[in-house]
Formats: sequence, C-alpha cells, structure tokens
Amino acid sequence: MQYQHVTISRHGGSDVFEMVMDERPEPRAGEVGVRVLATGVAFTDVLIREGLYPGLPKVPFTPGYEVVGIVDQLGPGVAGLDIGQRIAALTVVGGYSEYICLPEHECVSVPPEVDVAEAVGLVLQYVTAYQLLHRIAKVQPGDLILIHGAAGGVGTALLELGHLAGLKMYGTDSASKHDLIANLGATPIDYQQQDFQQQIRRLTPNGMDVVFDAIGGRHLLGSYQTLAPGGQLISYGFSSALSAQWGRLLIVGGSMGLLTLLNIWPDRRRAVFYNIADLKRRQPNWFRDDLMSLLDLLVDGSIQPIIADCLPLTDAAAAHDLLDHAAVRGQLVLLCNETFQANSSKPESKSLPVEHPSALG
Ligand SMILES: NC(=O)c1ccc[n+]([C@@H]2O[C@H](COP(=O)([O-])OP(=O)(O)OC[C@H]3O[C@@H](n4cnc5c(N)ncnc54)[C@H](OP(=O)(O)O)[C@@H]3O)[C@@H](O)[C@H]2O)c1
Repeated sequence: MQYQHVTISRHGGSDVFEMVMDERPEPRAGEVGVRVLATGVAFTDVLIREGLYPGLPKVPFTPGYEVVGIVDQLGPGVAGLDIGQRIAALTVVGGYSEYICLPEHECVSVPPEVDVAEAVGLVLQYVTAYQLLHRIAKVQPGDLILIHGAAGGVGTALLELGHLAGLKMYGTDSASKHDLIANLGATPIDYQQQDFQQQIRRLTPNGMDVVFDAIGGRHLLGSYQTLAPGGQLISYGFSSALSAQWGRLLIVGGSMGLLTLLNIWPDRRRAVFYNIADLKRRQPNWFRDDLMSLLDLLVDGSIQPIIADCLPLTDAAAAHDLLDHAAVRGQLVLLCNETFQANSSKPESKSLPVEHPSALG
C-alpha cells in the first residue's frame, strides 16, 4: 500500500519541502505501524529544516518531531499494544507523514476522548515545559520565574503549568501578544521596546528564582544577570542563531561555552542546558510518566493547549511560512489522512486567529 510523506532533500527555507509517495514499510520485530492522525509544527522544526539542530540524519529525510496516530499493524514480538489503539510519540524526525513505523516502547497510549490536535501539542511543547519546571528547575509554589518568548508554544505551556504550580510569572514577547500572556497569569514585558533586565529590576528588586531562555547567544548573559542569589538560568534553545547573518553554528557553540563558564562562576547561581531528546534517552521513564501526567491534565480540563491553526499535511510549507513570518500564538498542527476533513467539519473550533504573512505586509 502507498502512503504520502513530506521530505527535505536540502536545508533552507520552506521551499525545501516536497510531498513524496512511497510504498508503506512493514514494521520490524518490536515495532508497530502507525497511521498518523496529527503532527506538530514548531520552531524546533524550523531549526531542523535549516540544518541548525544537532544530530540530524543526512538529507533526504522526513521531518516531524511528534505524532499522534492509530496503531494499524503489529510487528513480530509486539505484546503491549493492540490494533486500533491511539498512541503518541516523540519522533524527532519522521512525523510529517501519513504512516510511520515506531518501536513499541516509544509509544504512549492516548485516551480516545482527547482531541488529536491538543494531544499532539503535549508531546514536544508541554513535555518540554513540564520537565523544565519540574525535572530541571524543581520549582516550588511562590517561586518567581521569567519566561522569554512567553506567548510561543513552549512559553504558553510554561505559563499554564506554572500557574498550576503556584508560581509568580513574568514573560517577554512582542506587545501584540501581551493580552495572551496576561490572560495566562503573567506580567508581560515588551522585549522589543523595553530592556527586560531593567524591567525585572524595577518589578522585583531581588531578582528571579528561575529564568527560561531559548534565545541563546549574548541574551543568556542578560538572563543570568536577572537571577536572585541561588537562582537558576535554564537554557533550552538558540533562536537568535536563526536571525544571525553569519556564524549561526558559532552562536550555538558559543552559548554552550558561556553556560559552562556561568555554571562554574562562584556566585551561587546556576546555568544549565536542557534538551528533551537527550533527557528522554537518559530517563525514558520520565518522558513517559510526564506525558501521561499531561494527558491526565488534558482529560480533566486542567490544561487547554492553544491551537494556532490546523492545516492538512500537504500544507507543511505553508505552516512553516506562518512560523517564519507570522505572529503564531500557540501550537500549529498538521492533520493527516481523513483527520483534516473530520476536523474542518467540526461545528466549533478552538483555533486562535493567525496573522497570515500577507496580512503582515
Ligand atoms: N531544548 C528542547 O528540548 C526544546 C524543546 C522545544 C522547543 N525548544 C526551543 O524553544 C524555543 C521556542 O520554541 P516554540 O516552539 O515555543 O517557538 P514559538 O512558538 O515560535 O515561540 C517563540 C516566541 O518567542 C518570541 N520571541 C522571539 N524573539 C524573542 C526575544 N528576543 N525575546 C522574547 N521573545 C522572543 C516570538 O514572538 P515574536 O517573533 O512575535 O517576537 C514567539 O512568540 C525554540 O528555540 C525551540 O527550538 C527547545
């Protein structure tokens, strides 16, 4: 049987995507064949598309960091999953596809009642936020935290989970998204018009207990300087590398060197780096447990992921254009197979409006 998937055969802009038709592979021993229902599109996919993410396979490959799908084939030796079961997985690559084979142990069962678009957003962005707060920072109620890019996918997840954990929150982002940040319980700071260090000093003379920084480069120093004694800087990305005209990989390497220096600097403050895929390799049970906890929070309505837009799989390039040029609030999702039609005919949609590139001039 044939299936469609998106491939990139060189790194670059959103024009590198191509839809390809192939023969469906058979699951090998210990694997299941999964009919993909939804896959997320996040800033990390942009870094992968541009070749700025460590440890990528050689081109051509299919991108796609996370999937929710239905098991429709069992390879030899699979005992813990059934045909028809809904699962989620962190694939890192391979998710922009109608079909994928996955090792059984990578699959986490998804309750049938949850919305697939909301569930897929938990796998990368909410697990990242959950682990940043509870596995790395180990936050306590009343802690003061600063989140850069607070209106983005990971940022809004940090705000929702931070609110549940009883934290006092501050969030930087562009002014057009400050209503969203305030509605999620944080004090917004306009990073384009204001100096965030000055604002933090004005608002909290003692400084932050934890700062979450995915901007990287020199920005890390500013974040570190807003920390209270005993505070922690947690770096988890290098989005500043993308806008750099040259030396992109130097910014990534330089950020890691700077974190090492800050961490050994004898002033009782700490600087660490977090990566979801590395932590999952080292602590696979944490990933499974944390995703299951988040699915429970989704089922009982404690979290309500913000879905910016749902597009068909064939619109992967358009989804990346939105991330490159538009003000996306929350999570973008690609729906595969018949899921897109089913979702578009739903009477009510939870999507927030996205400012499309043409509207931004
Ligand atoms: N380490 C990990 O395991 C891991 C996992 C997931 C994600 N990440 C990283 O986390 C970062 C965020 O991902 P995401 O999916 O949440 O991205 P996103 O949805 O694109 O959100 C990023 C937000 O940051 C804002 N922003 C851009 N530059 C900023 C600056 N200098 N100061 C403050 N805000 C700024 C953007 O708004 P405007 O453009 O409107 O200003 C946007 O709202 C990416 O670097 C990604 O690679 C890392």
